[in-house]
Amino acid sequence: MNYMKLIRTRKSTRDFKNEAVNDKKLEGLIKYFDKAHRLVPDIQLEAILFKDGDYVFDRLDGCAGYNGMMIKAPSYIIIVSDNKEGYIENTAFVGENMILKAVEEGLDTCWISFQSCDSIKERLCLDTAKEVTGIIAVGNALDKKKVLNPADTGDNYSKSDMKIVVDNTSFRYSLEDIIYYKQWGDPISYDELERRGLMDAFSYARLAPSSLNTQPWKFILDEGHVVLTIKDDPQIIQREEKMNAGVIMLYFYLISSDTLYGVQWHLGKPEKEYEIPEEYKIVSWARL
Ligand SMILES: Cc1cc2nc3c(=O)[nH]c(=O)nc-3n(C[C@H](O)[C@H](O)[C@H](O)COP(=O)(O)O)c2cc1C
Repeated sequence: MNYMKLIRTRKSTRDFKNEAVNDKKLEGLIKYFDKAHRLVPDIQLEAILFKDGDYVFDRLDGCAGYNGMMIKAPSYIIIVSDNKEGYIENTAFVGENMILKAVEEGLDTCWISFQSCDSIKERLCLDTAKEVTGIIAVGNALDKKKVLNPADTGDNYSKSDMKIVVDNTSFRYSLEDIIYYKQWGDPISYDELERRGLMDAFSYARLAPSSLNTQPWKFILDEGHVVLTIKDDPQIIQREEKMNAGVIMLYFYLISSDTLYGVQWHLGKPEKEYEIPEEYKIVSWARL
């Protein structure tokens, strides 16, 4: 798969055509899910396909989506997973990989937030011991256009930026905003990123989707490794923070595999201690 192209093409879709998706394409996505890249390989997870979009929409409207505003789509994929260390990040990693496959198939998608795993399971009558960890709307967008401002150096995040969710434009922070060099707050130079062969991996990672487009991530690039931190945002529940982390880890992993070598993420803190602000926490690190 040409991941760079797929990442550049992907956008979240909220308005879908009212037409069924080709069965073969949908079933292909479920097959792909089973062989997609894993963050934590020994966690069992499964993608369940709902071809009857109305069934899912009617049952989840009011209890999934931002403020309970469920996205209406012709089909949905529900991810269920065993509950083990790293299972949410792993769901996002695998699910987003499947989303990139959907983009390759010309399909459009959107992650859908939810509060209670149990109520989703109950409402959809899912007969599984696994936990519901992800909901993805799948279909064909009414409007295929994508608006991106990758060159924008970015103001600080504020609530007014939320309008982008409504406008369906996707603002992204700049590399300088999200990468520190060796310690918190120290700026990174483009020369350093080039010298380390990491320009592409970070440039594409920053295009990762995040709930409410909060882009809550900051990296510390050190000599032998990179550290991922995530902001504790009061408007985002913890599970979503972990989803956001999983998605950006996937993007970094895929592009570093294409351009450098497969960078393996480890959940938890590296040996070296970093001083980071209270509202951030270290999620993972990778050896470079
Ligand atoms: C974990 C997660 C949950 C999301 N939940 C919703 C949602 O419930 N409703 C919605 O409209 N968009 C949702 N999104 C999409 C984000 O709003 C979107 O990724 C972000 O605004 C950036 O836009 P883009 O994906 O088009 O680049 C979610 C994204 C992620 C990663």
